[in-house]
Amino acid sequence: MDTSPLPEFPALHPPLLQVKDLSIRFGTHHAVKNISFQINAGQTLGLVGESGSGKSATSLALLRLLPPTAQITGDITFAGQPLLHLSETAMRHHRGRNISMIFQEPMTALNPVMPIGAQIAEAVLAHNDGTDHPRLSRNAIKQKVLAAMHQVALPDPERRSKDYPHQFSGGQRQRILIAMAIVNQPRLLIADEPTTALDVTVQAQILLLLKQLRASHNLAMLFISHDLAVVAQACDQPTDTVAVMQHGQIVEQAPTSQLFRNPIHPYTRQLLASAPTMHTNRTKPLASSTIST
Ligand SMILES: Nc1ncnc2c1ncn2[C@@H]1O[C@H](COP(=O)(O)OP(=O)(O)OP(=O)(O)O)[C@@H](O)[C@H]1O
Ligand SMILES: [Mg+2]
Repeated sequence: MDTSPLPEFPALHPPLLQVKDLSIRFGTHHAVKNISFQINAGQTLGLVGESGSGKSATSLALLRLLPPTAQITGDITFAGQPLLHLSETAMRHHRGRNISMIFQEPMTALNPVMPIGAQIAEAVLAHNDGTDHPRLSRNAIKQKVLAAMHQVALPDPERRSKDYPHQFSGGQRQRILIAMAIVNQPRLLIADEPTTALDVTVQAQILLLLKQLRASHNLAMLFISHDLAVVAQACDQPTDTVAVMQHGQIVEQAPTSQLFRNPIHPYTRQLLASAPTMHTNRTKPLASSTIST
């Protein structure tokens, strides 16, 4: 019998997003230090870490939305294309179409003086220049907007599309932002603290919605949060992984269940210990207050 080691075959499908040795500096401040991760279609990667650890800088680098003062090195490959070397025009083609983003604060991300249907339509219009598909008619755009509102379970899309952001609840405004993010059927969705501004019940509804969208669209997702409990809910499929960031570095990265069952890095352990449970002694401060930043 041949006992020689099996040859290493390349992966059948290369990852949709591959980040290698990404570093970001703002002047002398090294905000992100040599981080690497990958995300496949249908997979969610949770990026968790304390405030200032470099989570948002990482997500903005993926979309090339950092200010020109940021020095970025390393490689970001999306669907086989090296994003850091693309022209701005080629990058604009990806943004909001193949890769889209949901921001944390729905009220500041929405235009208060424009009906929400028109705002969702703007996301379609930004990619309606005839390069990818024949230009869509006004009516086709309207149908796309209503379909996206329906997908995110906004009530009565036809009527409510004419309403303004202030006429919606916080959870509904987050649904509007999600509708804008998915209306062009992206392949990768970046969600930067998408539920932090919401109360826990609405937070659970939004997490469920993201999970449904991901399953129905085979979406890859980068889910960012400072809250390990939220990340655990968002990344609960067997293929999902969690990366823990501290001071610009990924200090631990593992499949979700493994990370929770057997955390290796002391910082991951601290994060886990800082999450309140039924058994937490509420007369003592949580461990998070002792995490050094
Ligand atoms: N445009 C910028 N100019 C200068 N420094 C910046 C800029 N953006 C971010 N930084 C710095 O980079 C570091 C990482 O910031 P980042 O916003 O990525 O943190 P974060 O992990 O998203 O935190 P939070 O949980 O508070 O959102 C911080 O020290 C921050 O001050
Ligand atoms: Mg952030």
